[in-house]
Order: sequence, then structure tokens, then C-alpha cells
Amino acid sequence: MRSTRNIIQAARSFKTCFVDFFKSLSKTDDLLSHRFTHNSFGKYDIVKPWSVSEKADVPVYIPQPSYSQTSVPKDGPEIPEIKDAYQIECMRDSCKLASYILHQVNPLIKPGITTDSLDKQVHDMIIGNGAYPSPLNYRGFPKSICTSVNNVACHGIPDNRPLQDGDILNVDITVYLNGYHGDCSAMFQVGEVDSEGKRLIAITKLCLKEAVRICKPNEHLYNIGNVIEEIADKHNLNVIPVCLGHGIGTYFHGAPDIFHFANDYSGRMQSGMTFTIEPILSQGSTQLEILEDGWTACTVDNSRTAQFEHTILITDDGHEVLTL
Ligand code: MF3
Ligand code: CO
Ligand code: CO
Repeated sequence: MRSTRNIIQAARSFKTCFVDFFKSLSKTDDLLSHRFTHNSFGKYDIVKPWSVSEKADVPVYIPQPSYSQTSVPKDGPEIPEIKDAYQIECMRDSCKLASYILHQVNPLIKPGITTDSLDKQVHDMIIGNGAYPSPLNYRGFPKSICTSVNNVACHGIPDNRPLQDGDILNVDITVYLNGYHGDCSAMFQVGEVDSEGKRLIAITKLCLKEAVRICKPNEHLYNIGNVIEEIADKHNLNVIPVCLGHGIGTYFHGAPDIFHFANDYSGRMQSGMTFTIEPILSQGSTQLEILEDGWTACTVDNSRTAQFEHTILITDDGHEVLTL
């Protein structure tokens, strides 16, 4: 186990202030360039941001979170909230909708379609179900979903780059329904993906599954990270430490912090808690840089990453995956 204090500090800074924590590098020269790489990490395109379309509208009859106008979210709780039966029902509904929509994504993904068009289609589905797409204007995020392709680890902004044969991408969907957020994400493959890409996806999915499996009342929160890092290590993959899971409810992000790397941080699970587990594994470096847009988080060595996410509820006798 490595010493956790610095990493936890870094993770917190990342969460609260993405731009300040990492040096923002000018990537302007690379814009629109096409660079196909074939290295020890496999065969894939190194992705840089393309142009982004106008902000989408949300009809006035859709209930909106406080930040939809101001871009500033209300603070989430500092200690984990224990939800009552009514709050749990609301979480079930928002999570069910988020996962339903995530399940609609696979047939939409083909070589040549843009993540911008994916964003538009998902945006319409979310609104069509009476919900608000939680990322839209959250701390100024410009789109309704996050789409993170190849070397983009998280918070990728949907843009006009056509997906290419061999790309892998995470699509992260969060909806705000009846006053509660539900959050989940999964990996998708475009056309034929190389074997290293497939392996990265499979092991990351396994990490989430095994971490969810241990969740029950009184379990140490730190065991989530211990389980994930052990599996990643065994398969020669690396956990990105600054990306945390989080408590969720009427707020998008709140206590508890969920560390995905081996740690001995305090806190135990209790019946009525709802939080996400969302490990990101890298083929190479675990260090990220944030691009000029203030969001796109890329690995510094352009290695690929994969991420899966569920929102879970701790129950009296174990757990319930709310975003199945
Ligand atoms: N859905 C992401 C998560 O899992 C958060 C995205 S924040 C956004 O926590 F602003 F980029 F949407
Ligand atoms: Co999340
Ligand atoms: Co998410």
C-alpha cells in the first residue's frame, strides 16, 4: 500500500479545482491533427478535442438543478447522508432512468458518427423522459454527457470528431429526475478494437464488479480501493488515483469520497448510503493533464484508459446496484 495522504489531497484538489491542479498545456497546434499510433499499448488514434457545437436547450417544464442557470452547484453533504425510504425510492427512479438510457447507446455507436450527435440523441432521450441531463452547465460543463475516447480518461466533451474504427470510449450518463441524480457509465467499442483495448475494458469492468461485490453495512470504504488496485496490479494495469467515486442524491457529488486505489482512509459503509464506484484504469501513466477547455483529462503519455461506473445503495443485508 502506498502512503495515501498526498494522493488523497491531490484527488480532492482534482475534484474541486481541475484547472488549478494540473498545468494546462496549449494543445492548439494539435487540434484536428490525426495521429494513429502503434506502440506497446496497441493500435489506436491519439485523440485531441475538435470543435464543440452550441449549448443545447432544456424546455422550461423540466425541473432543473440549482446550477443549471448559475453553473455553481450547491455544496453536497460533508458527512455521508443516510437516506430514508422515500429518498431511496427517488434514487431508484433516477438511477433506473440513467441506466436505461446508457443501455440505448450501443446501437448508436458506429464509425463516422460524432460524439456531438451522440450527445444530442441522449439529451433528447433524457428530456423526453422528464429529466435534466446533470452534466449540462455543472461547473460550466457545456454538454449533456461525457464522452472520453482512447487517451481521454474522463470529462471528455462531446465534439465533432467522427468516431474511428478501433476507438474505445466511455459514455457517462447522469440524469436529474424528481430532484435526485443517478450516475453511471460504461465502455463502448467502435468497429474492431485491438486485443489490448479489449483487455483493458474487460479488466476495468471486473474491477467494478468485484468492488461492488464486497459492499455491505460496516464494510470499510477503503476496501473498495484495495480490491480494485489488487486486480489492476495483477493484470499490469494502473489505477488513476485522482478520480474518485462520490456520494450522490439531491446533489451530484458529496460525501463519502470513494478512493479507487489501495488506501487506509477512514469510514465504513452504512445502510441507506448511496454512492458511486467508478474506477479508471490506465495502460500506462496514472498522471492526467487537463486541456485548455478546462475539462478534458488526458493521460500524459497518451496511453488509453477505461472506466465503468455504477451508483449503489447499501442495504441492511448487503447492497443494491441502482444502475443495473
Ligand atoms: N458523471 C461524472 C461522474 O461520474 C461527472 C461529470 S461532471 C461533468 O462523477 F461536469 F463533467 F459532467
Ligand atoms: Co460519478
Ligand atoms: Co458519472
